[in-house]
Amino acid sequence: MRSREAYIRALPKAELHLHIEGTLEPELAVRLARKHGVALPYADVEQLRAAYAFTDLQSFLDVYYALADVLRDADDFYELALSYLQRARDEGIVHVEIFFDPQTHTARGIPFGTVVEGLHRALGEAQRRFAMTHRLIACFLRDQSAAEAMRTLAEVLEYRDVIAAVGLDSAEVGHPPSKFAEVFAHARRHGLLTVAHAGEEGPPEYIREALDLLAVQRIDHGVRCEEDPELVRRLAREQIALTVCPLSNVKLGVFARIEQHNLKRLLEAGLRVTVNSDDPAYFGGYLLENYLAVERALGLSSAQLATLARNSIAGSFLDAAAKQRWLAAIDDCANAEARRAGA
Ligand code: ADE
Ligand code: ZN
Repeated sequence: MRSREAYIRALPKAELHLHIEGTLEPELAVRLARKHGVALPYADVEQLRAAYAFTDLQSFLDVYYALADVLRDADDFYELALSYLQRARDEGIVHVEIFFDPQTHTARGIPFGTVVEGLHRALGEAQRRFAMTHRLIACFLRDQSAAEAMRTLAEVLEYRDVIAAVGLDSAEVGHPPSKFAEVFAHARRHGLLTVAHAGEEGPPEYIREALDLLAVQRIDHGVRCEEDPELVRRLAREQIALTVCPLSNVKLGVFARIEQHNLKRLLEAGLRVTVNSDDPAYFGGYLLENYLAVERALGLSSAQLATLARNSIAGSFLDAAAKQRWLAAIDDCANAEARRAGA
């Protein structure tokens, strides 16, 4: 009998919520630290892994930003991204929309262009070798000032041809989307698409602000929408994609246990829920593991797994023709699975 894992792997999927810095595996971090003579506050890979006992978003961000210090030249960003893209291909991901945090690097004196050069090289290679399509999304750090974000936007605009969208990440509580209304308006005037983390640790009001004040196309996380039934109805009515990250939510204490995750309820309420891995090197699994975790813990049907894959394509920034092709391929895969189950 074909396993659930084989079925999930076979479904064509898009990953829409992936911080490339969050794919930095301990082994690569230690190797790059040696390459550049960077002293890490951890003696070895074991000590590093032991530091991954997070209690909340900030406790994770402290480690994530400290480790990003090993990323120094374009080859580092290339290697980081290509490792992720190879893994993504093996898991049946056909399209990726990747976040990066420019300020984390420019604040250390790494030129914006160095980061983009390395990422772009890897994405181009994945397109040629794996026929994998992509969009690049530059995120503003919301715990920095709006003026800093505006300066970063000016650099984003210099690479307008390779950056499709801007996003908003880092410590959420106390840094509402409203703080960045002007920055996002400016980005939209230049034709950039927009997304924002909202409703991960922050209240449902932040989701409303992201929609109304930032005019985002999708909400990253968004799981706290459930505290506001009217907002849930709106998200369903407007088919706003939520890029949900189940293993991340458990690691950072948004849900105490995976069995308590609200993904299935939101899906059954008709929201455009997608599954994503966020920072897989830190949270215990890449995209396939996230699908398997919710499938096992929440008991998702084959049809619901196909809906999650469909939502990832529908919620992506692919053009209409590409979406149609992938949606048809998902139908074929789901139909074949239904026949197999019935046989
Ligand atoms: N940066 C990387 N991962 C993040 C997350 N889950 N939330 C906010 N900022 C992040
Ligand atoms: Zn995230």
